[in-house]
Order: sequence, then structure tokens, then C-alpha cells
Amino acid sequence: MTHLKLFRSAFLDFIDDPFYESEENSVRYIPDGLLVIESGMIKDFDHYDYLKDQYQGLKITHYPDLLIVPGFVDTHIHFPQTEMIASYGKQLLEWLNQYTFPTERKFSCKEYAQKIAAFFLDELLKNGTTTALVFATVFAGSVEAFFEEAYRRNLRMISGKVMMDRHTPAYLKDTPETAYEETKRLIQTWHQKGRLLYAITPRFAITSSPEQLKLAGKLLTEFPDVYLQTHLSENLKEVEIVAELFPEAPNYLGVYDQMGLVGERSIFAHSIHLTDEEFQRLSQAKSAIAFCPTSNLFLGSGLFKLHQAKSKIHPVSVGLGSDIGAGTSFSLLQTANEAYKVAQLQSQSLSPFQALFLATLGGAKALKLEDKIGNFGIGKEADFIVLDYQATPLMALRNQQIYPSQTLSEIAEKIFTAIILGDDRAIRATYIMGEVAYSQP
Ligand code: GUN
Ligand code: ZN
Repeated sequence: MTHLKLFRSAFLDFIDDPFYESEENSVRYIPDGLLVIESGMIKDFDHYDYLKDQYQGLKITHYPDLLIVPGFVDTHIHFPQTEMIASYGKQLLEWLNQYTFPTERKFSCKEYAQKIAAFFLDELLKNGTTTALVFATVFAGSVEAFFEEAYRRNLRMISGKVMMDRHTPAYLKDTPETAYEETKRLIQTWHQKGRLLYAITPRFAITSSPEQLKLAGKLLTEFPDVYLQTHLSENLKEVEIVAELFPEAPNYLGVYDQMGLVGERSIFAHSIHLTDEEFQRLSQAKSAIAFCPTSNLFLGSGLFKLHQAKSKIHPVSVGLGSDIGAGTSFSLLQTANEAYKVAQLQSQSLSPFQALFLATLGGAKALKLEDKIGNFGIGKEADFIVLDYQATPLMALRNQQIYPSQTLSEIAEKIFTAIILGDDRAIRATYIMGEVAYSQP
């Protein structure tokens, strides 16, 4: 049994959705637990006292006074936009033209894409994000660079080549046919290679012709287990232009629906200005939304109606997205912080457990990966993080009480302070398949 890896600490994960179930029925908190990993997978997980005899004599990595939670899942992010984070002063369409497109042009060079992909993955791990749904650029080489780097690190990542054939500078344009052929080749090479998965990625309805969207739909029928990611209803001007470009469609989501792009593995970023019918259609199709609060505030896009998405009658699966480079932080703690404020501005409250759920099991469910990641279920992949809610002097002052907390309300308060005050400094270490992938110096 020497090949086993054992971790002892306080643990918290979710076994159900705290938007629909009580905290008692959805949160699993073990003040002194033992996590047993074999070949990167969770073999056992329970109270330390229950398991200790069974694993006697084995080396244990002990994190007293810290909290182990599942790795964060970022459901919307652009790796090539890492270097243009914090670009001043514009709303979506001007921001795309002024900053985004010129930046993405640089990724025609594969070596450059490799350099940024490595930086990007370092940054994700430093922030505790272990899985992400990632936009590359229109250049197939940028997708290859990303997948190669993620494969080398044994990460569970989803990405795809951006399809864009109109209303965009010539240097970023593909055609319906080249997008189809290159996407097909990339799916055949990368989908299900190691832990990697492919997402068909039309940028949004403005930058793809109807012919290109139709071919994206054809690819989805040819490869039914790949994902579809795109942007939906982020900005009012964007919604207006889409209505002009697609006068036949009943609404923005209808454009994608008519092309066969609205299904169980479809993830729509933003989805701020949706009609009730669009919410209902997403619910019926079992599609998911990536809620990107830092980006939505930064670009002045609007307030996502989380409470409507999480309605009991027409529930839509929701995950958090950092949406780098329109988003302002790689940290899903900071993203959850802004999600809380977006809810507050609509007189809603997002509880600490609901927020942490969105960053973990909720994200895994949005990506239909809850059988593989998202909590400490036996048989799942052991991607997890070690959280320190006394990471800074201010956090230590706020959380003076010594560990471990015993009750759910005590732990909820600590998690809330980690969300509001924490960021990468609160991530003591990040583990991928039971191996250290990042740890604080
Ligand atoms: N809509 C189309 N492309 C983009 C993008 O790169 N970022 C954001 N936030 N919205 C988009
Ligand atoms: Zn985006």
C-alpha cells in the first residue's frame, strides 16, 4: 500500500446543490478528515478516526488549521487574453476592436502561444483553478500550444479553435470550410487525449456567418460528445446587431438553436439580457451558463440574473467564469466576491456555500464532468486545493478563532471571508491527481 497518498485536514465539499437543498443536505464538512488517493484517483474519504486503523503506518501529509476543498472550475476564460487584462475604458464591441483582436493576432505564432499558455496555466494553478473551459484563438496552432502544455501537466482542460469568418479584421478571419476542417482535425487529435476535451468554439453570432454556424452544428452531430462554447447576450448593442443580422431568429439564443448548437454540452458565456423564453429553452436543453461577474462589471455589460437561472421551475446549470481578459481576476474567490455583489445589487443574496458550490461542483456540473471532478466522491480524480483563511494579516485578524470549526455556520463565515478578502494568497497549494502542482514558497 506504499503507493497510496494520504492527506489529513479539515475538508469541505458538496454532495448536492445548495440552491435547491438545505445546507445540511448539500454541504459535507469534515473537521478532521482523511483523503486517500491511489494512482491519482480518490480511493477513500472519511473522518480520520474512522479510517486511521485501516491505513496505519502510512505517511500522511497533514494540513492542520487549513481547509482542503475541490479544485476550482472556471467555466469561461480566454488564454490569449492574459496579457491584455485591465485594458481601460471601453464596452464590449469597442474593447474587442481596440484591444482584443490586435492581441489575438500575435497567436498566429505558435511559439508565442506556447509561452503564454505556460504562463496562463501557472496562473490558473496558483489561483486554485484545476479545470477550465478555455477559448484559444482562430489559429489552430494556438489550440495545439494550449493542449500540449495542459497535456504535459496532466490537467483536465477543455478548449477549442475560435471560429470567426466575418465582422472582424482580415488577419483573424477563417472561412466556414477551413474552420470546419481544422476543428475536425483538432477534435481527432486532442479530444479525450489524456484528460483533455474539445469544445467547438464559434466566437459569437456577430463574427460567424450562418454558413459557419451551420457547419459548427454539423460538427456537433458528427462528434456528439464534444462541447460547444460561445458568447450569448452579453451587451445590449451586441444583442441589437444580432437581431439585425438574423432577422428570422426569434431571439439571440434562437440563432444558435436554429443551427443545432443548443444542447447538453453547450456552455453560453454571460447570458445577461435573456428573455424568459431563452432561460426556459436553456433549461429544457440542459445547457449551461458561465456567469462572469468581474467581466460583466468591468465592461459595464449588466447584472446576470442568477436567481432566475437557478429557479426551481426552469433550472439552468450555472458555473463561474473569470472571463480573462475582460474579467479582472484569475481568482475564483474574487469572482465569487463579485458574484455576491451582483446578487446584492438585485436584492438577492448569494450564500457562502452557494458561492463555493458555483466555483466547484456547480462548475463541474455545468461542464457535465461531475462524474470525474467537483467533489471528493470515491473514484473521482484527485484535483484539490489547500485553502488558508488566515493567509493575510487582515484575514488572520478577521478569523482569529483557532481551528477547526465544528459547525456549518462557523465554517460558512470563514468561507465568506475567504471569498471577500481572499485571492491567490489564500491558496496554499494546488494538487493535480494527488500530486503537488503548485505550492506557496
Ligand atoms: N464576445 C465575443 N468575443 C468576446 C470576448 O473575447 N470577450 C468577451 N467578454 N465577450 C466576447
Ligand atoms: Zn469571453
